[in-house]
This record gives sequence, structure tokens and C-alpha cells, in this order.
Amino acid sequence: MTSLDDLAGTARAGTLYGIGVGPGDVRYLTLRAAGLVRAVDVVAFFAKRGLQGNARRIVTPLLAPGQAEARLEYPMTEEAPAESADYQREIGAFYRDAAVRLAGLLRAGKSVGLLAEGDPFFYGSFMHMWRRLAPDFPVEVVPGVTGMSGCWTRAKTPITWGDDMLAVLPGTLGESALVERLRLTDAAVIMKVGRNLAKVRRAVEQAGLLARAIYVERGTMADERILPLADCTEGRGAYFGMVLIPGEGRRI
Ligand SMILES: C[S@@+](CC[C@H](N)C(=O)[O-])C[C@H]1O[C@@H](n2cnc3c(N)ncnc32)[C@H](O)[C@@H]1O
Repeated sequence: MTSLDDLAGTARAGTLYGIGVGPGDVRYLTLRAAGLVRAVDVVAFFAKRGLQGNARRIVTPLLAPGQAEARLEYPMTEEAPAESADYQREIGAFYRDAAVRLAGLLRAGKSVGLLAEGDPFFYGSFMHMWRRLAPDFPVEVVPGVTGMSGCWTRAKTPITWGDDMLAVLPGTLGESALVERLRLTDAAVIMKVGRNLAKVRRAVEQAGLLARAIYVERGTMADERILPLADCTEGRGAYFGMVLIPGEGRRI
């Protein structure tokens, strides 16, 4: 019988791995992701100042003692409005410096596994490294279970039935844009709810969808919270929070 380690495979020198670590519960890593976390020379991850970093926390049970790590620490502690010029400048410089640091490791022949919550190619910071490094270095991206899959699973809510259309919307959209998009879809996932929670709730209500909207915070993590959005009265939610609006399509 093939061992799990054989299935997971090895890491190649000088290669960047974008490792999708899933929504929060370490058991939802793919075999390839779990194998790479143990096989790479350096485990790299993004983290906010003063915090462990969510992706790093997820893989803690897999890390060998003394595993080399590269912590890429965001310069800002608060979620800032992404459209502000200051934010753009600061985050742009941070991503440039982080890419230079990772390039140094890759050039020295290290295999580097950059952790990404959920799936690396789905609203992931990893993509900003991939864009800068993929032209010059070999890269392998390992898909992950997205946060939304983890959330609707934990909420015990199928999200699309029959021919339902699903819209994935960022909670950073303006209120009227959210209402407009919500009115056009059968099912929706609203990401990046955090500081936008009150606005998202108003938009869902205006679109007539409050009765079936579910708020999920830190889905699949130890301190997960799941409740009807209608019961969620706080103005601001956790960074890892999303709203699910399940479709009501064909049921046979
Ligand atoms: C920058 S995006 C990263 C998405 C990630 N790459 C994925 O595949 O899910 C961060 C947003 O994902 C959502 N999210 C990711 N994982 C989550 C979880 N376990 N519980 C609730 N929301 C989550 C939240 O809306 C959060 O603001």
C-alpha cells in the first residue's frame, strides 16, 4: 500500500510553493499541502503585527521542532480601507520587500512553502508574491479548501441547488452596489465582512434576504460562531467572518 508520505511527495530546491491550508481545521489540509509543510526548507507566512498569523496557527501541529520559518509581518495592525492612497503605498512596499526576501531564499536554493488560508488563488495575499516571483522561479500552487466551503459545511447549509447562480461578493463594496448584486443572484457568499458587518446586514435586509442569511465567524476553527445574520446585532465582526445566503433552487 502507498504511504501517505509517498502520496504527498517531496519539495524541490529553489522552488516556491503556495500552500493552501484550508479554512482553519488542520484536518482539512490536502495530502500535498500537509506533506509540503513538513518537506520544505522554510515555511513562510503572513501575519499581522503582534499576532501569530492564522495560516501559521493552522499548521502548528504539523511543524517539526526547529523548522525554519520566515514571518512576513504586515506593517499595519488595522484593516485599512484598501482604496486609500496611504494604504496602497504601504502595502505595495511591504509586498515588494517580502518578495525580495523570499527571492533571496529561493536563490540560495531553499524550497519555500508560503502558507495561504483557504485556497491560494482565491483572494489570497499569496497572489501578490506569485505575481512577482513566478517569472523568475519555479512555482507550484497547492489548492486548498476555501473558507466558504468550510463555512457552509459547518453551517450545515448546501449553498447552490439545481441551476442556482452563486455570487461571491466582497463586503467592502458600497451598500447600494451590494444590494444591486444581491438582487441579481440566487445564492451569495459575502466575504471580508469584518468592519463592514453593519453595512452588509443593511444591504442583505434591503435585498429582502435577511431571513435566510447566516453569519459564520472563524468557520472550522476552535472558536467558531454560527448564527442567523438577523440575530447578529454587533456593528463589526471578526476578520474571519462571512455571510452565506443559500440558494433555493430545484430540489428533487
Ligand atoms: C483575504 S480573504 C482570503 C480567502 C481565502 N484565500 C479562502 O480561500 O477562503 C479573507 C476573507 O475570507 C473569509 N474567510 C476565510 N476563511 C474563513 C473562515 N474560516 N471563517 C470565516 N470567514 C473566512 C473572510 O471573509 C475573510 O475576510
